[in-house]
Amino acid sequence: MEGKVYALTGATGGIGLALAKLLASRGAKVSLADISQAQLDKAAEAVKHASTADYTDSIFTQTCDVRDASQIQAWLRSTVDKFGKLDGAANLAGVFSRASVEEQQLGEWERVISINLTGTMLCIQAEFEVLSKGGSIVNATSIAGIRGSAGCFAYCASKHGVVGLTRVAALEGKDKGIRVNAIAPGYVDTAMLDQALETTTPEDAAKAIGALPVPRKADPMEVAKLIAFLLSDEASYITGAIYSIDGGMNV
Ligand SMILES: NC(=O)c1ccc[n+]([C@@H]2O[C@H](COP(=O)([O-])OP(=O)(O)OC[C@H]3O[C@@H](n4cnc5c(N)ncnc54)[C@H](O)[C@@H]3O)[C@@H](O)[C@H]2O)c1
Repeated sequence: MEGKVYALTGATGGIGLALAKLLASRGAKVSLADISQAQLDKAAEAVKHASTADYTDSIFTQTCDVRDASQIQAWLRSTVDKFGKLDGAANLAGVFSRASVEEQQLGEWERVISINLTGTMLCIQAEFEVLSKGGSIVNATSIAGIRGSAGCFAYCASKHGVVGLTRVAALEGKDKGIRVNAIAPGYVDTAMLDQALETTTPEDAAKAIGALPVPRKADPMEVAKLIAFLLSDEASYITGAIYSIDGGMNV
């Protein structure tokens, strides 16, 4: 991945930060976007430490709310201005939300859809404009994008939508030589999982996780390794795929 340039949204989150560190350790340049500049500064320091070389000129950060097309375009333009090209993008920004069919409020529905689904759609559109030929996009869906998840009406719908976006973009990426895939994680040890398990007792959570064929949570770095593979030329024949990484939850 030496010399490659990758752009990440949700880059200060659990999976995004792990991916940024991994790409840096493999010699790639990274452009990190998230909503808080303070968090981005903190992430940039952590990423610099993960690199074996002097990484100061190999990292770029910019605040970007994925609900706003002009912010996404500005961030990606700045990325290409700084590094001269873009080889791949990981669209990881997302929020969790818990509401049953009966509880679902329209305002919360719109918030979740606007970040998880519309945000991913706007990122793909902007990335199609600037990615180099042979480029790769990886979107974040979820186990909840593949099967139903009671009590997660909006989240589940948004992640099912990301599967559709991924498949259409993979088909239409043909003319631009862009591959588009998605990862579908199960339990990954991040702040979002803590939020998702808030309403479950520790005993019930341990029981559910312990029942998996791989009976533990994923470390975010395990998910980062899958994303890095899909971003890389090693995955040159893979497009339109939805990769489960869930310890066997969906078997
Ligand atoms: N952690 C899990 O178990 C799990 C499971 C399945 C899917 N996922 C998906 O993986 C992705 C990464 O999740 P994570 O566990 O690292 O979560 P996380 O909460 O640690 O990180 C999510 C990041 O997205 C950012 N974000 C939120 N709203 C944004 C907006 N409007 N614009 C830009 N950035 C925004 C947050 O600031 C945060 O840094 C998410 O899309 C999530 O839905 C996570």
